[in-house]
Amino acid sequence: MIKASTGHTVMLACDHGYFMGPTSHLEEPRKTIAPLVPFADALAVTRGVLRNCVDPKWEVPIILRVSGGTSILQEDLSDEGITTSMEDAVRLNVSAVALSIFVGTAHEKQTLLSLSKLVDEGEECGIPVIAITAVGKELEKRDARYLGLCCRVAAEIGCHIVKTYYCEGFSKVVQGCPVPVVVAGGPKLKTERDAFELAFNALNEGAIGVDMGRNIWQNSNPVGMIRAIRAIVHEKATIREAEMIYSEKDKSNLISA
Ligand code: R5P
Repeated sequence: MIKASTGHTVMLACDHGYFMGPTSHLEEPRKTIAPLVPFADALAVTRGVLRNCVDPKWEVPIILRVSGGTSILQEDLSDEGITTSMEDAVRLNVSAVALSIFVGTAHEKQTLLSLSKLVDEGEECGIPVIAITAVGKELEKRDARYLGLCCRVAAEIGCHIVKTYYCEGFSKVVQGCPVPVVVAGGPKLKTERDAFELAFNALNEGAIGVDMGRNIWQNSNPVGMIRAIRAIVHEKATIREAEMIYSEKDKSNLISA
């Protein structure tokens, strides 16, 4: 999941269907994932997508999304529980499991206790747990104070990696979190450059990588996007270099997977 030579990671997030349904550009997960998987250090999916849309021949570590219980039709997305057992995660031979926590919401306690249960079960069978500091529809909470709190709480409960959002003052979030941090991309940004800046700044401020979905596969050139992001994460590419990689045609073998 984490590339040993750089200590960094490009996780490809394709787990959105668990609450968004067949969201734009992820209607047929296999078609979306297939061209991108050679450039991913890990692939985040649910067990439904893993069983039905992921080719067993793809040599990519799997991060299994194991929380859910609400859909976008609900106003409050925070009412989540564990949807997939650790036994099934073991059976599916995944490299890690991932669960959302909703700090500061009505369901804070239940999601934090789910995290704790998952960590206990994961420790028993050697499966690391990724805590996702979900913010649901309350995106205004995306500041360093709030995300720093979420990340620290998740780390104290025992998760092995935290996935959170980039924000102003992000380095403080990382400094206060004793486990590695990866950043989600969030909804598709206006330009490719915005996504490159997000990844570049997050890495510069201490993230070990990205767990990115929509800014890659909702782009008209998804392979160009993941190759450019990969260069930022693993090769310290500048934003300008990332833009050049994005614009290259038919050179998908230039960046080693
Ligand atoms: C939400 O469904 C998941 O936690 C995503 O894996 C996460 O938000 C990363 O995907 P994106 O970059 O599209 O935000």
